Amino acid sequence: MKALILAGGKGTRLRPLTYTTAKQLVPVGNKPIIGYVLAHIHAAGIKDVGVIISPETGSEIKSYIRDGRQWNIKVTYIPQAEPLGLAHAVKTARGFLRNDDFIMYLGDNLLYHGIKDAIREFRKQASDALIFLKEVENPRQFGVARLDRKGNIVQLIEKPKKPPSNLALVGVYIFTPKIHSAIDRIKPSFRGELEITDAIQEAINMGCKVKSETLTGWWLDTGKKDDLLQANTVVLDEYIKRQIKGKADGKSQIIGRVTVEKGAIVANSIVRGPVIIGKGSKIKDSFIGPFTSIGDNVTVISSSLEHSVILNNVFLSGIERLEDSIIGKGARVVRNQNAHKALRLMVGDDSIIEV
Ligand code: TTP
Repeated sequence: MKALILAGGKGTRLRPLTYTTAKQLVPVGNKPIIGYVLAHIHAAGIKDVGVIISPETGSEIKSYIRDGRQWNIKVTYIPQAEPLGLAHAVKTARGFLRNDDFIMYLGDNLLYHGIKDAIREFRKQASDALIFLKEVENPRQFGVARLDRKGNIVQLIEKPKKPPSNLALVGVYIFTPKIHSAIDRIKPSFRGELEITDAIQEAINMGCKVKSETLTGWWLDTGKKDDLLQANTVVLDEYIKRQIKGKADGKSQIIGRVTVEKGAIVANSIVRGPVIIGKGSKIKDSFIGPFTSIGDNVTVISSSLEHSVILNNVFLSGIERLEDSIIGKGARVVRNQNAHKALRLMVGDDSIIEV
């Protein structure tokens, strides 16, 4: 079995972060989301991994994954000239995939249980494809499955106006090579993309055996701001351990599961976990509340923040209360000292500011 990770795409919904960073490299719990994907692939024992990359962010993805040795995998980079859809990505990877079964994993998605059990299940069932479903509250935003009484998939519909169920298609799929003939038969959708939902539907129409598994653990899709914050919350809750490698002075309180990386300093501050503070960061006279990830070389002075993701080299000072926020690399957010309290902003394209 091979793996195909999709790390191309545009990432428009996560602008402005995606102007300078590939969506799959945005950190969650201070680790790029694709790092968790690679760890899952490694844990499942898959060695041969293709990675779809785009012309815009391909080099950045390559410099993170390199030759894959860190995860004990062999990597083949597959450039996709334009993001013409998930099924188009599979088509582009045909030369790499050859006649092998493969697991396709969207590079900005995460599954709680990883993929080891999923692969075992696929082998047991001997089906032509295995897809994963998850109950969601807002099925209109997803590909949705209609099942018959026995749980077989009857129909898949992309972002339906009237969803036939609340079972959304998760961003991980296991295919046999039969999917390629289904992809060859589909046409681009109204949004101009070759949709994987259409390809799976076509495979069902062709008489292929498509099985589904409904997930019980969490599934995270980090495509938008709130999803990313939610992913950060879940990942910190799941993985953060109490580890103080940096320094906390006697006037500070570090409560619960807090990781303070090497070279980080916490002075006269309260940090209430789960929180991670990256290498070389300085927290002074501040409160860092639960579910906050602070990157490397960040400075936080006289501020209070929680449920936020702060990327590397950010400077925050005098901010009374910051929450549910994502602050991009190298940004400065400082309290305005002038008397008439005017806002003074230098904001990147497509930023979102709520004051
Ligand atoms: P999406 O989130 O559906 O697409 P996108 O990355 O273009 O984002 P947006 O809608 O905000 O512009 O893609 C899911 C994953 O698949 C993501 O990791 C990017 C990747 N992808 C490709 O590699 N090639 C493609 O043609 C598409 C559409 C996505």
